[in-house]
Amino acid sequence: MIVVFGSLNVDLVCRVEAIPKPGETVLAPRYERMPGGKGANQATAAARAGAQTLFAGAVGRDSFGEEEAAILEREGIDVSALARVEEATGCAFITVAADGENAITVASGANRLADAASLASVWTKSPSAIVLQMELPFEETLRAAREARDHGVRVVLNLAPVPAVDSASLRALFAASDILIVNEHELAESAAILSVSGGDADALANALATEAGITVLATLGGDGALIATGQGVSERFRAPRIEPVDTTGAGDTLCGVLAAGLDAGLSLSDATQRAVAAASLACLSFGARSAMPKAEAIDAFLVGGQA
Ligand code: RIB
Ligand code: NA
Repeated sequence: MIVVFGSLNVDLVCRVEAIPKPGETVLAPRYERMPGGKGANQATAAARAGAQTLFAGAVGRDSFGEEEAAILEREGIDVSALARVEEATGCAFITVAADGENAITVASGANRLADAASLASVWTKSPSAIVLQMELPFEETLRAAREARDHGVRVVLNLAPVPAVDSASLRALFAASDILIVNEHELAESAAILSVSGGDADALANALATEAGITVLATLGGDGALIATGQGVSERFRAPRIEPVDTTGAGDTLCGVLAAGLDAGLSLSDATQRAVAAASLACLSFGARSAMPKAEAIDAFLVGGQA
């Protein structure tokens, strides 16, 4: 079983030609409302990939909160530890450009009141891993990582977005985590916070892995991913060639499918190859969760290389 402790948002999404620059106004024909939040997305990806999944976090006592919890339940996700709090359910304002790139502003709302204490009942269910991101309060995420560690539960940390904390705080979080998942931008930013330097992505990931005592899985967009354990060499994983429609949720898919693979007993390499393929598939339609694949679709894609 996997536990995801993280954010849940309603995504309000506009498709535009290009993402507006500061001070610029652009017109979109309409907006669409879609389920989102990095935590809830990662839980969905894990569940679709076949893992028994529990999602914990917080939603408001509003219709968005009820509807989003029901959507997770329909995915087969355990929401018994999801709190209802006196703040509006999180909402993300997303613009997606014609090339599939996006820009996101999150109104955190209820996510700000998420409490690691809500995980108390979860440890007795013997999860194999907990998956964390950075859309909940830093202190609660750190507490969740430490408690998971104390219970012998593997900690998968997706440092998205990179928190505005000092190096001591970030070191403490890394010290309580096993696998760090970052994109290139997050890799550079987190290395800078720890005053770690290196050349290319491989060298930087290795330097960070050594400095933080953590396994680093860096995602490289269309170039796939790499894993660095601090031994100076890194393992590369190629992404299948696709034409992205919307990259929103691709990173979340990778995190959820990786955790599901590890939970099923795959090696880190095999779980990563699967997760990279799943993340590519997730880019093929509009919205964070709409193209997140089920296990059979990932298998078929890995064999045939065709979406
Ligand atoms: O990673 C994509 C997600 O980031 C969106 O669903 C949005 O809600 C933000 O949390
Ligand atoms: Na998508």
